[in-house]
Amino acid sequence: VITVLCANPALDVTYRVDRLTPGDVHAVYSVQRRAGGKGTNVARVLRQLGEAVRLVAPLGGTDGERYAAEIAESGIELVAVPVGAPPRTSVCVLDEDATVFNEAGPELAASEWDAVVDAVLQPRPDVLVLSGSLPAGVPTDAYARLIRPDVVTVVDAKGPVLAAALTARPHLVAPNVAEAQDILGAGDAAQCAAGLRSRGAGSAVVSCGPDGLVAATSDGTWIARPPRALSGNPTGAGDALTAALAAGLARAAPWPDLVRDAVATSAAALGRDTAGEIDLDLRAELLGQVVIEEVRDAADQHS
Ligand SMILES: Nc1ncnc2c1ncn2[C@@H]1O[C@H](COP(=O)(O)OP(=O)(O)OP(=O)(O)O)[C@@H](O)[C@H]1O
Ligand SMILES: [Mg+2]
Repeated sequence: VITVLCANPALDVTYRVDRLTPGDVHAVYSVQRRAGGKGTNVARVLRQLGEAVRLVAPLGGTDGERYAAEIAESGIELVAVPVGAPPRTSVCVLDEDATVFNEAGPELAASEWDAVVDAVLQPRPDVLVLSGSLPAGVPTDAYARLIRPDVVTVVDAKGPVLAAALTARPHLVAPNVAEAQDILGAGDAAQCAAGLRSRGAGSAVVSCGPDGLVAATSDGTWIARPPRALSGNPTGAGDALTAALAAGLARAAPWPDLVRDAVATSAAALGRDTAGEIDLDLRAELLGQVVIEEVRDAADQHS
């Protein structure tokens, strides 16, 4: 079973408007409300990929119940850790662009976070996904403390939370290139992937939107890209990438296969408007078309 932690769950509200103009009053012509947060999106894509998923989330209030009811229908096993405060709301206003307003979320008490930690580690996960932001009141090294040598752990985080997680030597980290540059200072995707490994990650996948990704692993380094840039809503492509990586690790897939699948699966998120969903037909179509190249490191090139 793959355990996914959604530490800071959300209710995602999407408003469609004709044209967003600051300062104006807008008629909203459609409203969608959905359980969200990065971990939630990862769990949903894993489910679409046919994996058994256990999703752990701190949930309070009637919005917490609404979130739980929706997840219960999706075939995901939800472990709802009861807390005092309801989940946050994230508002996305869609015209031809997506404008997003992310609430920080409630503050968790230390005892509430302890209950989340217990729920994540018992029973022991085969693969653990730590994805997205931490709620207020939880220390920056909270992901680091969840990383165990005997649990294959995938981290998709940014800033000080990612930097702290690296010190605990996670199996795999998967930030986008801007997030990687933010903690490493500079460098292209390949340099960032190598840098994340030297900071403690077993492997690192650095994603670059339509340009694909670089995967630096103990078996080698690969650059892979989708056959073409797809148009569509890119929100959640990174979450689909994280899901594909976790599924591949759970099956102990060889890295080149895993990388190919990760690119096809993440690009297939562009085929759906909703974050946390992929177009399975598009994924199957793209799988044979992913452009993949093994990069020989500087040491190899000199020998
Ligand atoms: N426009 C696109 N066309 C094709 N594939 C894409 C496109 N955008 C993203 N992808 C695929 O999705 C992967 C992850 O995208 P990206 O680097 O944008 O993640 P992210 O910034 O972490 O996104 P998220 O908002 O979900 O966190 C890329 O490596 C690529 O394989
Ligand atoms: Mg991301």
